[in-house]
Amino acid sequence: MRHTVTLIPGDGIGVETSAAMQRVVAASGAEIEWEIAQAGAACIETYGTPLPEETINSVRRNKVAIKGPCTTPVGTGFRSVNVALRKSLNLYVNLRPVMSIPGAGGRYSDVNLVIVRENTEDLYAGIEFEEGTEKALELIDFIDKQGAGRIAKDSGISIKPISITATKNIVDFAFNYAIKQGRNKVTAVHKANIMKYSDGLFLRVARDVAKDYEDQIDFDDKIVDAFCMNMVMDPSQFDVIVFPNLYGDIASDLAAGLVGGLGLAPGANIGKEYAVFEAVHGSAPDIAGKDLANPTAQILSAAMMLDHIGEREAALRIRSAVLAVYAQGTHLTGDIRVPERKCEPATCSSFTDALVRQIEAM
Ligand code: NAI
Repeated sequence: MRHTVTLIPGDGIGVETSAAMQRVVAASGAEIEWEIAQAGAACIETYGTPLPEETINSVRRNKVAIKGPCTTPVGTGFRSVNVALRKSLNLYVNLRPVMSIPGAGGRYSDVNLVIVRENTEDLYAGIEFEEGTEKALELIDFIDKQGAGRIAKDSGISIKPISITATKNIVDFAFNYAIKQGRNKVTAVHKANIMKYSDGLFLRVARDVAKDYEDQIDFDDKIVDAFCMNMVMDPSQFDVIVFPNLYGDIASDLAAGLVGGLGLAPGANIGKEYAVFEAVHGSAPDIAGKDLANPTAQILSAAMMLDHIGEREAALRIRSAVLAVYAQGTHLTGDIRVPERKCEPATCSSFTDALVRQIEAM
């Protein structure tokens, strides 16, 4: 069956990793027609915005998209494309499976966990008050009058909203995902001991939701600082982990680091109607345009996308080929740290060539 999928190449290394991903998907046998849509720093000049309406409409039409990273320009007044896309399509789940890949230089060989990150609120809500502005001073005054606490007048303020509705939705998703994937445990991560009305609410709702699933899936919770230590010492103890937005963001990079780095970490933004697949990493301006990027994360994001649209065999072929190329160890990009390199670092293109050859030989 032929599928139309929106492809947002993004900018920076996104251009290179998206092209690599297209080659690998073509080799996998899945019949995909790509509808190319623009977003990111490169399209501000043409469209006056980093996220044109026609890009959002393309995702609405096709229901599924895969996206390369987009740079968030600093100091231009533009907010993150990624955050805007997640909001406008109500992609309330950020799903990030993290697995050890033998030969990829990870610190552990037994990691197999899934990060489920709330995607719409928390400190990522983008509700901020700049230091010294009238609004910031009014807010500081209001909080003082409420008797809620004194804030220094030269403070900038970011608001951290966490709602019952969004927490129920994300925790419910985590449990349903655990059941569908044959997993055993959900862990909720929070700092409820300090932020009683935001993280405290998150924990209370998570515990309530967990009761609906107690016959099928175990549940526990961890305070975020202890969670970080536990992750670094023994990540194999975690299965499905559900987070408020910001902790999920930070934990994703931590988890990626344990299995070999950002070049390997795939992800998806999922809502009730639409899904946008993308790697965890950003646009890596330090290596953009040099053919040095590791495209594995975006290629594994494409495998998640293929599963989502029912192309399971093609997805399996891609995953098996990735495992084989890393096991061979003769085409590893420069970001992969192995004790003994069997080759000069591969380029994005030569890694992709090896992967395509592997798929074709399967
Ligand atoms: P980054 O993830 O782009 O880079 C961090 C480090 O990891 C850099 O040294 C980079 O070279 C390396 N790296 C990342 N991906 C790699 C890959 N596939 N292969 C080899 N090395 C890789 O994070 P950074 O520098 O904080 O952000 C750069 C830009 O990307 C910012 O404008 C940020 O806002 C944006 N960003 C976009 C995201 C998205 O579109 N989903 C996600 C994260 C950041």
